[in-house]
Amino acid sequence: MNTKKFLIAGSILSADLLNLEKDVKEALDEGVDVIHFDVMDYHFVPNMTFGPAFLKAMRKKFPDAVFDVHLMVSPVTENIVDDYANAGANWISFHPEACIHTERMLTHIKEMGIKAGLALNPATPPQMLRYLWEKLDFVLVMTVNPGFGGQKTIKATLTKVADVKKMAKDDGYDISIEVDGGVKDSNIAEIASFRADPFVVGPAFFGASDTQQA
Ligand code: DX5
Ligand code: ZN
Repeated sequence: MNTKKFLIAGSILSADLLNLEKDVKEALDEGVDVIHFDVMDYHFVPNMTFGPAFLKAMRKKFPDAVFDVHLMVSPVTENIVDDYANAGANWISFHPEACIHTERMLTHIKEMGIKAGLALNPATPPQMLRYLWEKLDFVLVMTVNPGFGGQKTIKATLTKVADVKKMAKDDGYDISIEVDGGVKDSNIAEIASFRADPFVVGPAFFGASDTQQA
């Protein structure tokens, strides 16, 4: 039996928004490793979610949790990064389409003491990563189009997980690949076989009737 421990990041987009403290506590108690915050601005994606004040309030309640901030905002600016960093983010990823100076932004995130990631939309080619390994702590591969929780994984994106892992290996890097979108109990093993880790899960955890089992 494969007993490798994979990291699970719970996306609170699918939690009970009026009982978030309870849901996040339960998630952490039940073994969710990371809390994933989907930050949306109505520009980069057709949806709107959490601001830095919200993150700060969560940080106050959960001082030791790992907070993973996935910025789906356009443009990404140093100010926005600083606001989420100061509010308590541990990891920050953004989309290259929303940032002209990707390398500079990754450098800035790392200088803030935060783990830096680049998030790739389903149709975004990964070749640019080749020039960025030094600055990357992880790559977030979107397996759905960003904007909403509860969507179905786009099959073609799974080969990108394997492609990125191989590109990194060929260049001498072992990079974490966070897979985000439609991960559930019925497909997580297949996605893991492409050497992904961590996994973002939304309804597969927060919507489960038995969250401990999930
Ligand atoms: C989509 C978000 C995801 C989403 C993933 O824009 O980036 O993090 O919440 O969760 P599910 O499991 O609902 O696809
Ligand atoms: Zn996300």
